[in-house]
Amino acid sequence: MGADLEKVLIPADELQAKIASLAAQISTDYSGRNLLLVGVLKGAVMVMADLARALDIPVEMDWMAVSSYGSGTKSSGVVRTILDLKTDITDRHVLLVEDIVDSGLTLAWLISNLRSRNPASLEVCALLRKPEAARIDVYVKYVGFNIPNEFVIGYGLDYAEKYRNLPFVGTLAPHVYGGGREQHGNNRD
Ligand code: PRP
Repeated sequence: MGADLEKVLIPADELQAKIASLAAQISTDYSGRNLLLVGVLKGAVMVMADLARALDIPVEMDWMAVSSYGSGTKSSGVVRTILDLKTDITDRHVLLVEDIVDSGLTLAWLISNLRSRNPASLEVCALLRKPEAARIDVYVKYVGFNIPNEFVIGYGLDYAEKYRNLPFVGTLAPHVYGGGREQHGNNRD
């Protein structure tokens, strides 16, 4: 692992501290409301698990899995649903939980998809956002960290399905992935 990792970008304790502060804000904002957390598999597993446990309001949890169409390394913005919600979100307060907003194309599609189901409210919590990689402007109410446009792994984020289990966010050594900056392409179909 050591040789593949370039550096630790966000240590585990900083991730947990940020999640605690996001959770405090979300708990206040949704006090007295019945909140549904929607996690986007697979990357959001870690942030969903830790965020949910840090909230002091009752919540329900559901999951979606999506995949970008198209080959190559760039997000196409054309998304297909691999796993849909079991919950009917009509008139529900929904908080979409993402590990990372990179180009923003996946999130834009998800928001449009979920909005069409007429939730009472829909907001987004993303642990990481790469402002320099944005290809579409998407409003994210709860952002953990804005990060540089580097290939990041750990805490849910993978390279070729590996490294998701790291407790911190790190950058991958360029020799492992060939040096491009694009985050995706190895696990998209
Ligand atoms: C990641 C991440 C977001 C999306 C962001 O998922 O979890 O859903 O990419 O990229 P974008 O802003 O450029 O659209 P990925 O497709 O890598 O799947 P995974 O969560 O299963 O790793």
